[in-house]
Amino acid sequence: MSEYAPVRFVIVGCGSIAQKGYQPRLQAYPKKVALHGYCDQHRPNAEALAAQAGGGKVYGSVEEVLADPEVEAILNLTTIKGHYPLSLAALKAGKHVYSEKPISVTSAQATELIEEAEKRGLKLACAPSSPLGYEQQDVWRRIRAGEIGQPHTVIGNFSCTRLEAWHPNADAFMADGISVVGDAAPYPLIMMTTYFGPVARVFGFARNVVPERKLMVGPRAGTLFKPAIPDHVMGLLEFANGMRGFLNCGWSGRSDTPPFEVSGTEGGFALNPHNDGAGIRTWSQYSGEIKPVPTPAKAMPNALDWGKGPVDLADAIRRKRPVRCSPYQARHLVEIAERLNEASNKGGLVELTTRFDPPEPVGEVAPWE
Ligand SMILES: NC(=O)c1ccc[n+]([C@@H]2O[C@H](COP(=O)([O-])OP(=O)(O)OC[C@H]3O[C@@H](n4cnc5c(N)ncnc54)[C@H](O)[C@@H]3O)[C@@H](O)[C@H]2O)c1
Repeated sequence: MSEYAPVRFVIVGCGSIAQKGYQPRLQAYPKKVALHGYCDQHRPNAEALAAQAGGGKVYGSVEEVLADPEVEAILNLTTIKGHYPLSLAALKAGKHVYSEKPISVTSAQATELIEEAEKRGLKLACAPSSPLGYEQQDVWRRIRAGEIGQPHTVIGNFSCTRLEAWHPNADAFMADGISVVGDAAPYPLIMMTTYFGPVARVFGFARNVVPERKLMVGPRAGTLFKPAIPDHVMGLLEFANGMRGFLNCGWSGRSDTPPFEVSGTEGGFALNPHNDGAGIRTWSQYSGEIKPVPTPAKAMPNALDWGKGPVDLADAIRRKRPVRCSPYQARHLVEIAERLNEASNKGGLVELTTRFDPPEPVGEVAPWE
């Protein structure tokens, strides 16, 4: 028997990640979340997702969702431009919100969302939830236990194959926003900031390396578009705790730089900042040998459990506790993206102004157990 009634969610934005990730994984936690309905500006997407889920209400408009007293929380899975206005409208309508990343296009908008949620006593949470993965938590525990000595450097890399080669709406991701950092870098950045806290200052290079693109998949294949924001960014990060970091991210082609690596005085760890169960590697700083660390038994098989973030939000709502996927941390990630652009434009170090309290590791009994 569940300790509390599941929180009733509506998915708004029934595209790629709703179909592949959230809907199936939310249904894996019926004691915590109930998928009440679906809404998309393109109604057939909502109908298709409801059919895939085996039922659920299909809403004709966002206004209809927000006016429905049965709905407790919104899962905002629209594209970047939709995150801030939809989350704000949902909060104003008294709904809790879980947003896909980035939480907003500017850090000022994120502040507005945080203030609106606080004013109304509502919960606001934001993806990525990847730090909640079993492997990610295991490495965090090992670092804190001193297994690699004093950590000093962290490297993050998210360089995917040309986005237009596999995403049918690649143009929407590059139409507005901050840069590729806003969409792609949250994975390494959420891991870096979860393990090591806020970034104090950055130096960066941001530019556009593929200025003209063509959609290669989906119903609009063949459509030409020009990215309006930087599609490749490199950054040097100095954390408030003295750690140093390097970030490389782009939508312009793959890179074999490890996606996420932590170096300490005695050893290092490399793991995937997105997927759980992709494998952990470790090494000593006294030999060249790289060894695998056993993957925790409950980890997903090289996949991200999209359900954990909303489940944590649901648990936080019912238990009246802070969310783990913090909007303050999400705002900090947006500010990192903003400041990297600024540093690139002016050619110097830029200080960050936002801070957040780093989350605590998940204890023995997680809400999704
Ligand atoms: N696709 C992925 O692999 C992936 C992975 C992780 C995170 N994400 C994030 O998830 C979000 C959605 O990505 P996606 O790949 O599913 O995009 P998508 O384009 O496939 O789907 C977005 C859906 O939202 C709908 N939509 C957009 N604005 C809306 C609005 N204002 N009201 C109602 N519906 C609206 C669109 O019609 C579309 O069906 C993005 O922020 C993205 O960064 C995507």
